[in-house]
Amino acid sequence: MSASHPAQSEGAQIPVYGQLDIEPVAGEGVWITTADGRRILDLYGGHAVAALGYGHPKLLGAIREQADALLFQTNAVPMAVRDRAAAALADFAPQGLDKVFLVNSGAEANENALRLALRTTGRPVIVALEAAFHGRLAGCGAVTWGSERWYGFPRQPFDVRFVPRDDPEAMRAAVGADTAAVIIEPVQGVAGAYPISATVLAAAREATSRHGALLIFDEVQSGVGRTGWPFAAQRAEITPDLITAAKSLAGGFPAGALIATPAVSSQVGKGDLGTTFGGGPVACAAIAAVLETIEEEGLLEQVRDVSAYLQERCSTGPVTGIQGAGFLLGLKLDRPAREVQAALLERNILTGTSADPRVLRLLPPLILQRTHVDRLADALEDL
Ligand SMILES: Cc1ncc(COP(=O)(O)O)c(C=O)c1O
Repeated sequence: MSASHPAQSEGAQIPVYGQLDIEPVAGEGVWITTADGRRILDLYGGHAVAALGYGHPKLLGAIREQADALLFQTNAVPMAVRDRAAAALADFAPQGLDKVFLVNSGAEANENALRLALRTTGRPVIVALEAAFHGRLAGCGAVTWGSERWYGFPRQPFDVRFVPRDDPEAMRAAVGADTAAVIIEPVQGVAGAYPISATVLAAAREATSRHGALLIFDEVQSGVGRTGWPFAAQRAEITPDLITAAKSLAGGFPAGALIATPAVSSQVGKGDLGTTFGGGPVACAAIAAVLETIEEEGLLEQVRDVSAYLQERCSTGPVTGIQGAGFLLGLKLDRPAREVQAALLERNILTGTSADPRVLRLLPPLILQRTHVDRLADALEDL
């Protein structure tokens, strides 16, 4: 990894991102091509966004067709494509969560979920987990662990109680009559694909139900098939009151969603939520195409199979353990993740780092196959 790529336009962009020394210009399947002609196996999927990889004909066809027909109209008018996307998402979500509000990003979905919880319960406290990442707006930043480094707002919009991520008793003790909601990533993404245990998830469900608080699963990273289940909620067999999704949802077109139980959605009236771009027709065409393709191509089964193979094959070289689920995996390393990331990139394999300096993150497209895993395993063995 080098400090900056010559293609980086430092003059016009605020330089907030550390960037890798490659410039992708094209992609096909799980491969990206760079400006200087390298072909790179993408095991990072653009922060978990490229669910169907690159150039998927159904996704591109749906986007093109909708763009040709009508590029944009607002939520002030009904649109069949929006109904279709919402219905597909409600079908995909756990039973009992069948109402959808469409937005543009993960942070926006979480912001609205938190707002709904605070408003509908009239309570002041949100419980969150240590090491969590929920986004960079005022509300979701407040429930992000360690956000004081960049938060920037003079005060938080509500009270936050952080609990250790491995302690069901602490979870039970943290939820009470003052609690509007508990927000949890069932597999913590930025933290390094760290899975929250079934006992902590069950404790959160039990405590929120008992005290009339809501349980929010932030599935911005873990959702839309990434764990080998539609959402990690189904994998854990726990039904939250709200799920947030984004990233993979439209396969690369910006989109997010809030999925709620009728009990929550029945408390929302006209004018309570809103957005200009959320639910736009092209995003909706992309959402429907992604969800239909996951079903048609059997990608949930494929993710489970290839993930199991990866976990078996890739415990090698610098890897001391593998955590996470499906294609949200953290390779635990005997050396700094940045070193391994750079060495793999030299071998034309793109991976991601995480907040844990010794965990390398894999978020590949859901279409990844065993042969690609062999390439990673060989490269790791070689390090
Ligand atoms: C679990 C989780 N929640 C929320 C977000 C924020 O999503 P966005 O960047 O689309 O606002 C992220 C982004 O990494 C995330 O991983």
